Amino acid sequence: DSSQLLNLFDFEKLAVGRMTHMAYEYVASGAADEFTVRWNRQVLDAIKLNPTVLTDVSQIDTSTSLLGLDLPYPILIAPTAYHKIMHPEGEHATARGAGSAKAVYVVSSFTTTPLEEIAKVATQPLWFQIYVRDDRDFTKALIQQAEALGFRALCITVDTPVAGVRNRQDKALFGLPDGVNTPHMYGGLAEKKPFTWKDIDWIKSFTKMPVLLKGILNSDDAEKAVAAGMDGIIVSNHGGRNLDTVPATIEALPRISEKVNKRIPILMDGGIRRGTDVLKAIALGANAVLVGKPICFGLACGGAEGVTKVLEILKNELELAMALTGRATIASIDPSVIWK
Ligand code: LAC
Repeated sequence: DSSQLLNLFDFEKLAVGRMTHMAYEYVASGAADEFTVRWNRQVLDAIKLNPTVLTDVSQIDTSTSLLGLDLPYPILIAPTAYHKIMHPEGEHATARGAGSAKAVYVVSSFTTTPLEEIAKVATQPLWFQIYVRDDRDFTKALIQQAEALGFRALCITVDTPVAGVRNRQDKALFGLPDGVNTPHMYGGLAEKKPFTWKDIDWIKSFTKMPVLLKGILNSDDAEKAVAAGMDGIIVSNHGGRNLDTVPATIEALPRISEKVNKRIPILMDGGIRRGTDVLKAIALGANAVLVGKPICFGLACGGAEGVTKVLEILKNELELAMALTGRATIASIDPSVIWK
């Protein structure tokens, strides 16, 4: 009964019964003992808000601009793998859901639908996430393909030289079902050839798309990203899926924001489930956030409509959080909205 799907946690609860055990475990799990998965939520929950009263909140404006795009609200769809194991329409449905919700969809390298098919159904801007492979010609051709298809930005994942300790995924005997494959990805994640800042310079040299590094937690790396001419960074711990016991992204964000000092946009993902979480991330220095797991659960519960509903709920909650803290615009969400 969809009238009972009121928040993002409700989608996860319903999705458990809608997905295969293997698919649910793949999406929901993190690395090793899942400390970081829990911290992503717990640290957000522990941050208290400091509202301002008697300001004019009769018109709430969640719009913002990001890398040349006008976004109606600062929430993007994070890149996540294998949408066809969550819903038979897979990435098609995600793209249509993003379109209805007017959100940017960051397509994963592990998409189970070809990029050109996604581009055909998308009505909102698409970004592309890439894993740099040993085969640099393959990597370059894929980036150029995304650019030619009109993808608007490139997110290079930099936190995954190898995948983490995926105990839950392994216990669920994760594997793609017959008929589901990844047209832009071959083999696993482990590579032999070093992938370093030199490769980032190389990618920047041939693409015109804005380039963001996804998976920054260390402010020194954020500084190097600015020095390397990156157009943005994504503060991410890969949803707690790689290195267990790294901090919550909301904990890493303030020092990165201080170091970057508004020179380039900062995005953040990891544990965002409530409008107040979005508000907190913006207050602590993010220009926008991304949601991954909730989109997968929305997809599993209701295909394109489920994806749209997840985004609309989060946007609506953000509007309420802004009204109730006395912040009518995104620009007015500053650190003073956090209780110290
Ligand atoms: C994961 C990889 C595919 O987190 O990014 O499962």
